Amino acid sequence: MQLALFKLITAYVFIFGGSSGAAASPMEILSIDTTTTGNNGDGGTAINRPSSAHTTGTQNCGDPRQARPFYRMWNPTSTDHLYTINATEYRNPASTYGYLKDGIVGYVFAYPQPNAEALFRLWNPDSGDHFYTRSVTERNFALNSLGYKDEGVACYLYTDTPEAQSCGQPLYRLYGPEFSDHFYTGSQQERDRWIKTWNYTDEGVAGWLLPY
Ligand SMILES: *[C@@H]1O[C@H](CO)[C@@H](O)[C@H](O)[C@H]1NC(C)=O
Ligand SMILES: *[C@@H]1O[C@H](CO)[C@@H](O)[C@H](O)[C@H]1NC(C)=O
Repeated sequence: MQLALFKLITAYVFIFGGSSGAAASPMEILSIDTTTTGNNGDGGTAINRPSSAHTTGTQNCGDPRQARPFYRMWNPTSTDHLYTINATEYRNPASTYGYLKDGIVGYVFAYPQPNAEALFRLWNPDSGDHFYTRSVTERNFALNSLGYKDEGVACYLYTDTPEAQSCGQPLYRLYGPEFSDHFYTGSQQERDRWIKTWNYTDEGVAGWLLPY
């Protein structure tokens, strides 16, 4: 928690104290990443739907029939990644707000489930950053001190308890100071590449996706 708050403060410095210009042309460099999702423009077919296998045994996991794709979009103008389970929001925003479809990062829950809790969605109109966290403390800090607006609950993710973790797989959280962009991915490979190539900072695990 303290580490996360520290990173938010670091983010604050970049957002309000640092240069507002991006380091390079985002349109050119942060193009749609096909290696993870492999199905840009549609979402929902590249990753197999989670099976019910993970509910067998003694773990108290959520119901995989309640799983929803967590769609990812990218806005090259505001250099912002946006995540949603709302298929309408995923299919329609491009023409209106300049977001491009970027496939799905994995499967999540639309409603509360065992061992899962809300992932809050926030938006900063000044930096154009969508930010997601399960921490109420971090959320309130972002709302009260960093200029973020409340955009409700994005989805429900497995928490950090050993049992919850055993139900899922990590959704990695990164922050790109040069783009004022929070980035989330279920792929360790993609995480490592963004850290190495675009100077994104590792911010740990946002929660746990359903296995796929
Ligand atoms: C999904 O997104 C659309 C378009 O933004 C919106 O009109 C609708 O209310 C959303 N649905 C839900 C359940 O939030
Ligand atoms: C990443 O950081 C290094 C060192 O500060 C810098 O030279 C490089 O241009 C940065 N890369 C990008 C993509 O901004």
